[in-house]
Amino acid sequence: MSGNAEGELYLKNRREFLRLCATSASALAGTNIFHCEGIGAEALHQAHVSVSRYIDPLPLLKRVAPRETRKDKDLYIIRMMECTSQMHSQLPPTHCWGFEGQYPGPIIEATRGRAIEVEWENRLPATHIFKVDTHIHGAMPPAPEVRTVPHLHGARTRSEFDGLPEKWFTPGSSARYFYENNQQAATLWYHDHAVGITRLNVYAGLSGFYLLHDDQERRMNLPSGDYEIPLLLQDRTLDEHGQLVYAPTGEVGQALPPGVWGPEFFGELPVVNGAIYPYLEVEPRLYRLRLLNGANSRFFNLSLNLAKRPTDIPSLVTFHQIGTDGGFLPKPAALTKLLLGPAERADLIVDFSGLEDKTVTLSNDAGAPFPGWSMLVKEHPSLYELMQFRVTRKKSENGRSFSMPSEFDFSRLDEKASVITRDFVLSEWLDEQGQTKGIRINNKGYDDPVTESVKLGTVEKWRFINTTDDAHPMHLHLVQFQVLHRQGFNTAAFTRGVLEPIGIPRPPEANEAGWKDTAIVNPRDVLTILARFEGYTGKYVFHCHMLEHEDNDMMRPYEVI
Ligand code: C2O
Ligand code: CU
Ligand code: CU
Repeated sequence: MSGNAEGELYLKNRREFLRLCATSASALAGTNIFHCEGIGAEALHQAHVSVSRYIDPLPLLKRVAPRETRKDKDLYIIRMMECTSQMHSQLPPTHCWGFEGQYPGPIIEATRGRAIEVEWENRLPATHIFKVDTHIHGAMPPAPEVRTVPHLHGARTRSEFDGLPEKWFTPGSSARYFYENNQQAATLWYHDHAVGITRLNVYAGLSGFYLLHDDQERRMNLPSGDYEIPLLLQDRTLDEHGQLVYAPTGEVGQALPPGVWGPEFFGELPVVNGAIYPYLEVEPRLYRLRLLNGANSRFFNLSLNLAKRPTDIPSLVTFHQIGTDGGFLPKPAALTKLLLGPAERADLIVDFSGLEDKTVTLSNDAGAPFPGWSMLVKEHPSLYELMQFRVTRKKSENGRSFSMPSEFDFSRLDEKASVITRDFVLSEWLDEQGQTKGIRINNKGYDDPVTESVKLGTVEKWRFINTTDDAHPMHLHLVQFQVLHRQGFNTAAFTRGVLEPIGIPRPPEANEAGWKDTAIVNPRDVLTILARFEGYTGKYVFHCHMLEHEDNDMMRPYEVI
């Protein structure tokens, strides 16, 4: 925040920093802490480790088998344990935490209409891998250092099985959660959700895919088996011994003392399915790639690039998105770029045919923070590449041909059906000196009383009004919603309490016009969503899915009555 010893700069917040950038860029140039614009971050940035790129194959994630299969449900036991992971062949194994001792966790596969029950066991040690900041809500004493509670992200789940942040349990304890799987096929995921330390638990390795299948999906004849690849995209920082470093940054990108909460974490290395800069050999044919942004804070703006180096003129491969967070799109969307905020998923069809012997790089040009405030900071490395696909010549005999899913019925929620509009102002949470203490929703924290009571079965319109300089991926538990539109607003008028929209409302792009449980709210923009609150009554939560924000304290409860 302010008073950085190195730079002697006193900056209250990003906005002030931006103003400085605009008015006195030259005053700042030359300090080695802040750079208002331009290239050169790579040069500035001191990586803890350097490794060769693309020498390790992409790990293919394992499926976990049920312990028991009953008439009406399958039973699983999933333990959270300490483990080690070979993240790169040039590094020693990395100490981490994993579901079933695996980082990333194993894939849970489920079928619509067939329930599963999971006994989640906390078998972790009593000491955390990372220093816990005990000054933020939920992590204050007497809360034990190691606590976990698993949440199935994107699922319509009874409140008691939702993994609410305060329902954490300690090493030696377990919780039995029931998942009905009464929703359409989708790429869901499970991860820890313990209040005040979710960012640390997920960073330690506690997340995995939950793939829900159904008949409609089966009829689509999509690439499956070896040709359906889930890809968990993350970023991590490792020290010279190959061990995880959790080093968040402050409001203007500065380094913070260890163990202190910071508004963002950006890792130095791209990690896909737990491996650093991996490659995957693919056949010249259709593949189904199921992408999940599982990073703490980092957005990915992805492309499939045939160019050899990130500095070469890009040569982008067109691909199709067929599904979003909560199911299939009304029709496939052709794309060359795909933006995924933390927690968002994309179901893609990529055609590698005709690309024999070529190398396709999964590239990224998203700013960190996103969308970026034209400032590059040495603590915020850009990750221009994540992994490579190497297209072979051979095409398996058994390679089937696939038909792209054609349009199917998709029920668009009607704005007129909405019974209420709720407004949520996303803003920095400032102390008396104007220093940022965190980020909040309607200037309330998670522990403040419930203010949103939703009637079961009704449709509501929620507007997220972003007054900050960062994009926030807002997530609701229980429901899959639809993006109605985004629109700018007059920030000056807003400080006087008037929400005055600017410009025309922008409907969602074709690849976002489906079921979502997480959607990006751009800076100085309003995101309007429609949701039908179906399923169950009880307490749920909604929050920003940048885990640093969620932990302090950009999360609110809501109830369905
Ligand atoms: Cu991905 Cu509240 O969760
Ligand atoms: Cu969730
Ligand atoms: Cu946020």
